[in-house]
Amino acid sequence: MDADELKLLCELFEGTPRQGPGSVETTRRALGLVPGFSRVERVLDLGCGTGGSTLVLAKDTGAHVTAVDIHPPFLAALRVHAEKRGLGDRITTVAADMADAASLGADFDLIWAEGSAYSIGFVNALRAWRPLLRAGGCLVVTELVWFVDEPAERARAFFASEYPDMRDEATRIDQARSAGYELIASFRLPAEDWHAYYAGVEAPLRDAIAQHGELPIYAATRLEREIYEACGEDYGYLCLVLQVGGRSGARPAAERQ
Ligand SMILES: C[S@@+](CC[C@H](N)C(=O)[O-])C[C@H]1O[C@@H](n2cnc3c(N)ncnc32)[C@H](O)[C@@H]1O
Repeated sequence: MDADELKLLCELFEGTPRQGPGSVETTRRALGLVPGFSRVERVLDLGCGTGGSTLVLAKDTGAHVTAVDIHPPFLAALRVHAEKRGLGDRITTVAADMADAASLGADFDLIWAEGSAYSIGFVNALRAWRPLLRAGGCLVVTELVWFVDEPAERARAFFASEYPDMRDEATRIDQARSAGYELIASFRLPAEDWHAYYAGVEAPLRDAIAQHGELPIYAATRLEREIYEACGEDYGYLCLVLQVGGRSGARPAAERQ
């Protein structure tokens, strides 16, 4: 995808609540699995988009959330949502490349990455982000995986070009362990999260086609949905709740100021 196509694709999602499958309920479910989640103080949300997860994290934990995305218009939308909900002073938006770990800070209690790790490579992301967590800190990541050994040919062919590094659940869990994390919990995102994601982009896609005509990027977006509707039982998002070694749970009282 070239830069112009990526820009048009991002524009489709600037007004949608999520830029990938996910939901408030799923974010809350994952957060509830993080040891000591209600006491976390420093959270980093990587590839936050317009903040579907960021707003839940800020509201439900009372932590300060640093929300990072490479596409500034998503961050502008997030700031509007945060102000409306009275969360503006607890969310800092940063336009940055999440591959550039050194620029993102350190000593986080919790790193969150819904649907974004793939863009810098799953294993690479997990390795690069681990030093940003304090001992006992957690990483929550959602990742597109195969649910079956022999997926439908249509899905296999589509993802062979769209996401050649797609793996199965067991492989991603093994890779997380090899990257130095302990698996606390995992679950599959529900089909409702996919339906909401595709429903959200319907109107923006119609408007974009009316404005720019039938571009390949729009056809690809529709094809992705058709493939999900035909073969969506063969693949989906896996949510992993991971922890690095050391003290578990929230930041000890002595470190809280
Ligand atoms: C599939 S969307 C998920 C967005 C959001 N987490 C959600 O669940 O709705 C992936 C997000 O990662 C961002 N992204 C992709 N590559 C990135 C990078 N290298 N650095 C920072 N953000 C990136 C995209 O702009 C996009 O907002």
